[in-house]
Amino acid sequence: MGLLIVGELALRAARCHLLASKSWICTRASPLGGKNIVLMGPPGAGKTTVGRIVAHRLGLPVIDVDDNILEKTWKMPVAAKLASVGGERFLEEEGQALCNFSASGCVVSLTGSNPLHAQAMQHIKQTGLVIYLDVLSEDILQRLARMKVNRIVGQEAGVSMSEILQYRKQFYEKWLDVRVLCGTGDTVEEVAEKVLNAVERYQKHAAENYVSTRCDNTESSSQKTYFSDVVVEGLATDGGLYVPKNGFPKIDDREWLRLAEMSYPERALVLLEKCIHPLDVCALDLRNMVFKAYSSNFSSEAVAPVKHLSHNQYVQELFHGPTASFKDLALQLMPQLFAYCLPPMCNYLILVATSGDTGSAVLNGFGRLTGAERHRTGVLVFFPEEGVSEIQKLQMISYREGNARAVSVLSDFDFCQKTIKRMFGESGLIGHLAVEYGTVLSTANSINWARLLPQVVYHSSAYLDLCRDGVIRFGEPIDVCIPTGNFGNAMSAVYAKQMGIPIRKVICASNQNCIITDFITTGEYDLRGRLLLPSHSPAIDILKSSNLERFIYYLSDRDSHLVKDLFSKLDRQQHFKVPEPLFGRIQQEVQAGWCSEDDCLAAIQSIHTQTGYVMDTHTAVAKVVADRLQDGSCPVVLSSTAHYGKFAPAVLKALKIPTVPQDPVEQLKKLSSTASRPEMHRDMMKCLKESSKRGHTVCQAEYSVLVEEVESMIHDSFLKVM
Ligand SMILES: *Cc1c(COP(=O)(O)O)cnc(C)c1O
Ligand SMILES: *[C@@H]1O[C@H](CO)[C@@H](O)[C@H](O)[C@H]1NC(C)=O
Ligand SMILES: *[C@@H]1O[C@H](CO)[C@@H](O)[C@H](O)[C@H]1NC(C)=O
Repeated sequence: MGLLIVGELALRAARCHLLASKSWICTRASPLGGKNIVLMGPPGAGKTTVGRIVAHRLGLPVIDVDDNILEKTWKMPVAAKLASVGGERFLEEEGQALCNFSASGCVVSLTGSNPLHAQAMQHIKQTGLVIYLDVLSEDILQRLARMKVNRIVGQEAGVSMSEILQYRKQFYEKWLDVRVLCGTGDTVEEVAEKVLNAVERYQKHAAENYVSTRCDNTESSSQKTYFSDVVVEGLATDGGLYVPKNGFPKIDDREWLRLAEMSYPERALVLLEKCIHPLDVCALDLRNMVFKAYSSNFSSEAVAPVKHLSHNQYVQELFHGPTASFKDLALQLMPQLFAYCLPPMCNYLILVATSGDTGSAVLNGFGRLTGAERHRTGVLVFFPEEGVSEIQKLQMISYREGNARAVSVLSDFDFCQKTIKRMFGESGLIGHLAVEYGTVLSTANSINWARLLPQVVYHSSAYLDLCRDGVIRFGEPIDVCIPTGNFGNAMSAVYAKQMGIPIRKVICASNQNCIITDFITTGEYDLRGRLLLPSHSPAIDILKSSNLERFIYYLSDRDSHLVKDLFSKLDRQQHFKVPEPLFGRIQQEVQAGWCSEDDCLAAIQSIHTQTGYVMDTHTAVAKVVADRLQDGSCPVVLSSTAHYGKFAPAVLKALKIPTVPQDPVEQLKKLSSTASRPEMHRDMMKCLKESSKRGHTVCQAEYSVLVEEVESMIHDSFLKVM
């Protein structure tokens, strides 16, 4: 039966003056000033009803495009128009009518097909805030069936309703300013409430600012710090780390259930929209960045799939990105956010010192920038010639030109790090680069907010996968176990929990360099007399765990005085002890344990024998600690932070392969013939094959030589600034 024409008779609001035939102006102050609140969404999403409730609550006039514009313009029912002119012509005339429409300070409910007309949407977008009522397609189909609608505008014969809803989604995703995610079972009142909240959030951009963990946040400083500032600045000037002033948004259960049905990039988009204000990064740009980051460059379509290991243990494979460690999850997105947030006019050169997985992940992420962004944003990585594994070196030296380059230094990691610090401190150099090349030096280290934030997504995603696959019901707890160094991965699990993911315990796993485990079990962080021991899991060999500061800030109810006090003590006296109530809360949130070198290799061997699955050394550290600490009363997800191929020599040793080849490519071949799962990492293999044929730049350990590298890179890869 029939065709759906959304909307019943709209109420003519009293304060709405009909000026000309198609011009509405509201005299009452709307929360958005003269801007309209425009509701967009598929037929059956509830635009008209929700629009009416919202208008009533705000005391604003409501305009329903169907009733108040189309029928008035055409002087006939919309259904009659469609019947007389046909779908294509209808869409065009509908669009034209909308182009002629002007209103201000009203609530406008669009038709389901308006977003298919680009010109009309450009026009309407200028008049106000476009809010997308994002309703699950199955819910729409049910509602339409209940309303006995079996055909909608633009639907050709032979095309199903569900196909056409799918087709239209891209248009809604293109025009939205703000998404309102509707859960299955949300009432119109609840959706209206969400719309009101969305409008309020949009208006209150200033509330979504960021503070340093060491700054006491009396409102005295009028200078607010926004998302783009924290992404570009990295570290706060007082030495603290940036955190969102109001913490993380809480997401309700019905919305999580919606997310459970989505793909990884879709989940990432919706979650990041909730954490990044649309005036900091607009919805369409965010969408483009997220989809670029998490589509073709991950070898698993699921991006961060969760696999069953044994009993109640699962592994989340975070190594399917181009450089085979979990750092890709952040660094495929971060460079795009960074380039987006940069102030115009300058070139930016990121300097990185690395002895591990960061180098290749940063190079790959920045190397993927395109167009103008690529010409003004680059990265130069210094690594110790003898201080990284052969595989890591080969991965890095595949980047030798363009806006992403790696050079090695005939010294150790500390020298690289110190030299970069010295460059930042030399005002002569900084001034010279600014004047001569319009270039600013910057960093992209693990404390940057734009590296932490994307990691919240995969922890959420692991939980949602377990729900989707029926392992748990939504609301039931899980534990996560994470090989931890700088506490970035663990901290993002804490944030996922703050957003509403029922993570019971975050279990932190160390190797023999177990300063974090000692801290969590004793409350004392003690650097005195500690030396780093070499290990099979070098990515978690650390002394100063930088993101721990965010954790202490969070658990102390944002006590910046305490944080400042503790971390300046650490600088001066090499240790601190947290006060008793805080220690209690730490023990509530997290558990920690450490794994010996022998246990790590033994775990790789035994899990391979039992299941055919090969883990990398970091994952094995998590496995050993989970076996020891987790009580088995709920599922536990182990963060698999690297592909086993990346740490091939240790894994070959663990598997007791008798003759280990020298050549990394041969090592990988040997491993892939031994492991039945997971598959060999093809991108890594390819990269190693190509790199091993090439040379790379090796620098003498001299300040001036490294400065020359910086200059020559700027000189031949950046646009000249006149
Ligand atoms: C960087 C890294 C880690 C440690 O990450 P944190 O953010 O410090 O917890 C663990 N495993 C691998 C393979 C890494 O590259
Ligand atoms: C739009 O307005 C123009 C001029 O004001 C008019 O010629 C045209 O017919 C209108 N179009 C529609 C579809 O109302
Ligand atoms: C990443 O994706 C781009 C296209 O978006 C492609 O050109 C490139 O080869 C991919 N790189 C890897 C390592 O998959």
